[in-house]
Amino acid sequence: MTKKSSEAIFSSEAGRGSPRREAIFLKAARCERTPRTPVWLMRQAGRSMPSYRKLREKVPFLELCKQPDKAARVAVQAASELEVDAAILFSDLLLPLEPMGFSLHYERTHGPMVADERGLRRDPACIPEIDPERDLAYVGEAVRATRAMLPAGIPLIGFAGGPFTMAVYMLEADGPPDLARVRSMMGQGTSAWEDLLTKITRTLVRFLRMQIEAGADAVQIFDTWAGSVEPGDYRTRILPYVRALVRDLHAEVPVIYFGLGLSEVLADIAATGVQGIGVDSQIALKKAWQRVGPKTAVQGNLDPAVLVGPLPELRRQVRDILDQAAGRPGHIFNLGHGVLPQTPFENVRALVNYVRELSAQEQRA
Ligand code: CP3
Repeated sequence: MTKKSSEAIFSSEAGRGSPRREAIFLKAARCERTPRTPVWLMRQAGRSMPSYRKLREKVPFLELCKQPDKAARVAVQAASELEVDAAILFSDLLLPLEPMGFSLHYERTHGPMVADERGLRRDPACIPEIDPERDLAYVGEAVRATRAMLPAGIPLIGFAGGPFTMAVYMLEADGPPDLARVRSMMGQGTSAWEDLLTKITRTLVRFLRMQIEAGADAVQIFDTWAGSVEPGDYRTRILPYVRALVRDLHAEVPVIYFGLGLSEVLADIAATGVQGIGVDSQIALKKAWQRVGPKTAVQGNLDPAVLVGPLPELRRQVRDILDQAAGRPGHIFNLGHGVLPQTPFENVRALVNYVRELSAQEQRA
């Protein structure tokens, strides 16, 4: 056995037998009862954190992602400063596009730009299939470094984009939300869409497996743009790849799937075998849960805009979401989308405290 594979096995088995298995985030992801509702926030490590903004004055974003020790420090600092119940890997959904032949530029004003200097968008069949262990080794290293730096009781969430969302960033010159090229490729009924999505899905399986083997205690699939097509198209053109991804992962850790605008297809997503579904703020949590059914955990779904606003309203809305969950096992508190950059850091701290306090009361009631 090579050194690398023995380490990989050791780190994933250490998680299985350790007290971390009993961490409330992982229990809720398995739909087990917890003494209070676990909470973490999408984009918890980011521009709402003064310590992150300070670091970013010195280090460009891509460099942070590619230096495992620095990335680990950001992820651990976010989790400890906010006292959330899980850390998420500090990385980005777009990183696999680089070894696939695109170049990435993160600009403060525009958001990320994916440049196609090689003309791959004209002929996606030419996009090479990558080997994440070789081409994205630094992501595996970042998982190992973060796991090593985190307190033993705090689970680490690895992540990747969903198959559709990765295709969107590959094919669309200016990123979402226009989706003209993607829609036309999906609608043509040719095998080009199938071939591209199959290739992406295979890569995502290997990319997420690498993160699990490196020590991720759960993984989240961010299929942010998957709800921008009709539910019928979602079911026939996107869902089969989500199902294949979940099936081929054979994950021994919880898999959570998140997307925006997927209210109509929540039951279909639950049927893929994911352990949890992240729901956005367009649907009441109670209604989402009725659609998801009893066997899948539900993560969400405070409107990120509420987190920017006054604290009494924030507290009221936290209570409302907890009331809708009604102490039912399997609720993981989160936002309906990521923390907005203009969010005051004190509000994020306040939110975590409200969830802790109010959900403990709810469980006692
Ligand atoms: O704290 C965390 O959640 C962990 C890290 C994380 C980042 N990106 C860091 C990041 C995660 C999980 C992501 C996922 C991601 N990246 C998604 C899916 C989730 C979503 O928001 O829908 C998407 C679509 C991307 C692509 C991406 N990267 C965008 C659209 C942007 C710009 C907008 C923004 O939020 O800043 C980025 C940049 C990015 N990714 C930053 C961070 C901390 C900001 C970079 C900076 O410091 O300037």
